[in-house]
Amino acid sequence: MGEYNVAVIGVGAVGEEMLKVLVQRDFPARQIKVLARSAREVTVAGRTFQVEATATESFDGVDIALFAGTEGEKGASVMFSQEAINRGAVVIDNGADFRMDPKVPLVVPEVNAHDLEWHQGIIANPNCSTIQMVVALKPLHERSRIKRVIASTYQAVSGTGRSAIEELAEQSVLLAHGQKPKKFSTYPMQIAFNVLPQIGGFREDGYTSEEWKMRVETRKILGDPDIQVSATTVRVPVYNGHSESIYIETEEKISAEEACKILSRSPGIQLVDQPAASKSDPHARTYPVPLEASGKDDTYVGRVREDPDVATGLHMWVVSDNIRKGAALNAVQIAETLIQKGLLKGGR
Ligand SMILES: NC(=O)c1ccc[n+]([C@@H]2O[C@H](COP(=O)([O-])OP(=O)(O)OC[C@H]3O[C@@H](n4cnc5c(N)ncnc54)[C@H](OP(=O)(O)O)[C@@H]3O)[C@@H](O)[C@H]2O)c1
Repeated sequence: MGEYNVAVIGVGAVGEEMLKVLVQRDFPARQIKVLARSAREVTVAGRTFQVEATATESFDGVDIALFAGTEGEKGASVMFSQEAINRGAVVIDNGADFRMDPKVPLVVPEVNAHDLEWHQGIIANPNCSTIQMVVALKPLHERSRIKRVIASTYQAVSGTGRSAIEELAEQSVLLAHGQKPKKFSTYPMQIAFNVLPQIGGFREDGYTSEEWKMRVETRKILGDPDIQVSATTVRVPVYNGHSESIYIETEEKISAEEACKILSRSPGIQLVDQPAASKSDPHARTYPVPLEASGKDDTYVGRVREDPDVATGLHMWVVSDNIRKGAALNAVQIAETLIQKGLLKGGR
């Protein structure tokens, strides 16, 4: 296997985790160039990186460009991804700018690695709440087509970025000292000891942008435009790790027992589901929680149970590290899969 010149664009919550994942997984990098809006030095996983201010020439000689900058017109991928492609790099983008472009594959390697074969220079990483959901849905969808998905999410503040992590910490300290927080800059109201049923902006149909992403991205990744998907996405005062209550209806019945068997042998999934707590240890853990999923690579699934009223209905609880599998790790896994499939030029 050759070695590649890698660029990571953005060193916020996701960019830093990407650097950590590249180092931890011993990614075959000849060089890792770190780019952001402003130059500085960052130390991640014991390694110090010089951060350069991003310019078009920054992409000369880069084989893989992992974009973790902000989204939109002034964001890194809108401003620089085409330049990176023109200069020979394959771009893997974390933001929402290109996800629904029909020319851009939207990939979760455990689910639709085959879509990498038709990339034209840019591959999109799905939204964090979609990634962990499709990892859990795919093996069941293979057993019997999923007709309908209803999801409710419990999403950590790290999904909003660094400022939100700081805001939750500041508000929690104030409240613990009997004071009321007055500053709400990241969310429309207090997040500490609260639950906000809004992630992203509201659309005309009453859904939020995050809820819409879960619908359209799931259909694109599973290659099934007819799956009915509706979601309620909720921000909770958890630092890291998204949880999801997912209800599915399949064409044929899948018993809870069979679903557990399928999930337990599927890639990227750890089944944590023992409904009967042991008598000798009544506190034995029987379900996944974000505190334990945080920092891990896998998606954790538990509370698998049949709908008492709908023969083909199943409920499950799905938890994953939104910064890791929901963003940084998934992007690095895409790069690794491109290499395994011989789809990346430039290895030296
Ligand atoms: N957080 C999550 O759970 C999550 C999950 C999935 C996807 N994502 C997506 O991943 C991306 C990064 O998220 P984040 O939470 O890490 O954001 P963040 O903490 O706000 O960091 C953004 C980084 O991007 C850099 N940047 C912004 N505009 C740039 C430009 N025009 N040129 C070069 N660098 C630029 C910033 O540089 P400076 O540091 O110099 O300002 C900063 O380092 C976003 O698109 C987000 O939607 C996030």
